[in-house]
Amino acid sequence: MSLVSLLPRWTPDRWNQPLDRAMLDALEPQAAIAGLLGPGPQWTFTTGHMRTLGDMLHAWVGWGRLPVLASPDEARATTGQGDFIPQLVRYLKRIDHLGLIDADFAEHIAAHHWLAADLYSVMDVLELTAFLGATTGPKVRILEIGGGWGRVPEMLMRLFPGKVEYVMVDAVPISLVSAEAYLRAMLPEATFGSLARGDSYQPGSYDVYFVPSWELEQLGTARFDVVINIESFQEMTQERVDYYLGWFDLMIADGGIAYIANSRDYVFTGDWNFPTSWRTLSRHRTPRSWTPDNSTHILRKEVGHFTAANRIIDAAFETTIPTDPHHPAVSTLRQIIEARKA
Ligand SMILES: C[S@@+](CC[C@H](N)C(=O)[O-])C[C@H]1O[C@@H](n2cnc3c(N)ncnc32)[C@H](O)[C@@H]1O
Repeated sequence: MSLVSLLPRWTPDRWNQPLDRAMLDALEPQAAIAGLLGPGPQWTFTTGHMRTLGDMLHAWVGWGRLPVLASPDEARATTGQGDFIPQLVRYLKRIDHLGLIDADFAEHIAAHHWLAADLYSVMDVLELTAFLGATTGPKVRILEIGGGWGRVPEMLMRLFPGKVEYVMVDAVPISLVSAEAYLRAMLPEATFGSLARGDSYQPGSYDVYFVPSWELEQLGTARFDVVINIESFQEMTQERVDYYLGWFDLMIADGGIAYIANSRDYVFTGDWNFPTSWRTLSRHRTPRSWTPDNSTHILRKEVGHFTAANRIIDAAFETTIPTDPHHPAVSTLRQIIEARKA
């Protein structure tokens, strides 16, 4: 069976999932007093006017809201690059170790309302699974902080049915509520648990489990094969990033993978204090890299100290950071900095 037949077939009403306002009203006061584990200033906005998760697309994925069928002019207006989608597909083709990106794939994404962000999800799945070694349990256990509407679990669970167990942590009530509404609608065969609904967490008991960031201890002694943060630590403070990296280190199994894709020159420009026992496997820019210093950084928790080896890979990565003022990532960051000053 071709893997393409497993891919999502979205319809235009994909973003119309209604939000559970009662759940939002319960979570928002908790988030407001959660301190370090609550949302930072970028993510504390009023949501009373929001009725569907479509209202959040821009905040979650920025350039990724571009439909794959957008014209070059529309692509240029959103991303600064008229050929943004073809570039993204070419990159997927280069890294495609699953045999997914072919003429059927191109036809599928055009016919089923895909966005650039959905191509990001395919990219994340390809990159992550390329580096994932043997895992011990019947399912790969994944922990993601700041997963937006849940695009990565959706894509993984479609492509690897019955093989993935996923815990989503978020500090932002509208993200937690949206992800739950969305994934329940898109993965009707999956089982769901939610701490906010009173379900307690046991490894293996749900395909997808949602937990607010201020309740992390409820995950107990579970250990994960993969920990993920995509475009989320980049908007936090040094204290929060240090806290989450330290917590990831507790939760990741020996030999597990950390998949950390963030800008380092946007809001958070501090130090990335990865545990010294995490060895860098790869650090590179991708077509998603919307600021110059934006990389997908893939590390594995091993036994030993890898600071020196990691530093060499970081130095090599730094030589690839674009500096040409006409480069779309360089001009995007310049505009952001200018807008902040104004
Ligand atoms: C820019 S969105 C990225 C979403 C998703 N990773 C993606 O790539 O589609 C940032 C995500 O981080 C979450 N977030 C923001 N502040 C957070 C915090 N302090 N702790 C945990 N999650 C946070 C947001 O709710 C959102 O889900």
